[in-house]
Order: sequence, then C-alpha cells, then structure tokens
Amino acid sequence: MRRAAGDAAPWNREERTESEQETERFGERLAAAVGPGDVVYLVGRLGAGKTALARGLARGLGASAGQVASPSFAILHEYAAPSGGIVLRHLDLYRLKDEEKELAILGLPGAVSDAPVAVEWPGQAIGKLLPPTIEVRIEVLGDAARKIGLVRRRGSARR
Ligand SMILES: Nc1ncnc2c1ncn2[C@@H]1O[C@H](COP(=O)(O)OP(=O)(O)O)[C@@H](O)[C@H]1O
Ligand SMILES: [Mg+2]
Repeated sequence: MRRAAGDAAPWNREERTESEQETERFGERLAAAVGPGDVVYLVGRLGAGKTALARGLARGLGASAGQVASPSFAILHEYAAPSGGIVLRHLDLYRLKDEEKELAILGLPGAVSDAPVAVEWPGQAIGKLLPPTIEVRIEVLGDAARKIGLVRRRGSARR
C-alpha cells in the first residue's frame, strides 16, 4: 500500500490496496478519524471490498475478534468490544426492497445514535435519515487491486 507514514486518514485523495487484508487495514486505520457521530457510507460495486473495509474499521474501533463476522444476511450487524459495548453498527441495505419502510422498523436514526455507523448500499431513504459524514469509495481496478477514496463531509455530523 502506498501511503505517507503518520497520515491517519488520506482525505480527498486516493489510495491503492492489493489484497483484502490491505483493505481491512485501511479500515482499521480509518478508525482513528471516526467517532460516535460519524456515518460512513461505503460505495462500490458488489465484491469491491466494502464489507472487508467495515470489518477492519470495526477492529480499529476495538471490536473483539470473535464478533468480527460478515453480515451476509443481516441488514444490521453490531460489532461489540470485549466489554460488550457497541463500537460500530454496519447497515447493509443491499437486500432491502422497500427501504423507507424497513428502515423505519430498524428505528433509525434514534436507535443507532450512540456509536458510529457504516452503511453499505446507501439509498435515498437512508440519505434523509442518516446523511453521511464520511464517504468511502472503492473502485475495482483488477482481481485484487482496489482504489479507495475518502471524503469527509463536514457539517453533516449527527451532533
Ligand atoms: N484489494 C482488495 N480489497 C478488498 N477485497 C479484495 C481485494 N482484492 C480481492 N478482494 C476480494 O474481493 C471480495 C470483497 O468482498 P466484500 O468485502 O464482501 O465486498 P463488498 O462488500 O463490496 O461486496 C473478497 O472476496 C476479497 O477477497
Ligand atoms: Mg458487502
């Protein structure tokens, strides 16, 4: 991974990763710039590495290894620290048919206001309920090469 040492979050520029593990580590380092008020949108096509990045982010925020699992079928996955406290919520909206209705069932945004949220496949409904404070765009360059861009959306923090 090409990156200047000591640079916690490469805002507004792009970084290349060459493996799933490197993308996870990118997420892990991003944790240093993420707080409870942050909503991180993960954008990129199926298989880009959004879930891998979220897994790394959860780890960087202190999730215990045993609970860092892929939310294959769940819409909402919660990553907890060994103490049991939620360190990250991961919303995967890929399978939602009626987004607004299903998001209402999840009790957004009130039910998720105490920890950072990562959102995969954000659509219009979530955009109103939980606007992004950080956007991560992952572009597939090849079999294992990815280009990751980070944008900080100032002024849209939940509090
Ligand atoms: N540089 C990379 N970063 C992330 N994933 C990669 C990379 N290279 C190959 N992969 C593979 O791409 C897939 C990404 O899966 P996943 O994180 O579930 O994607 P998404 O959530 O975007 O659909 C995994 O099978 C992973 O091994
Ligand atoms: Mg995914």
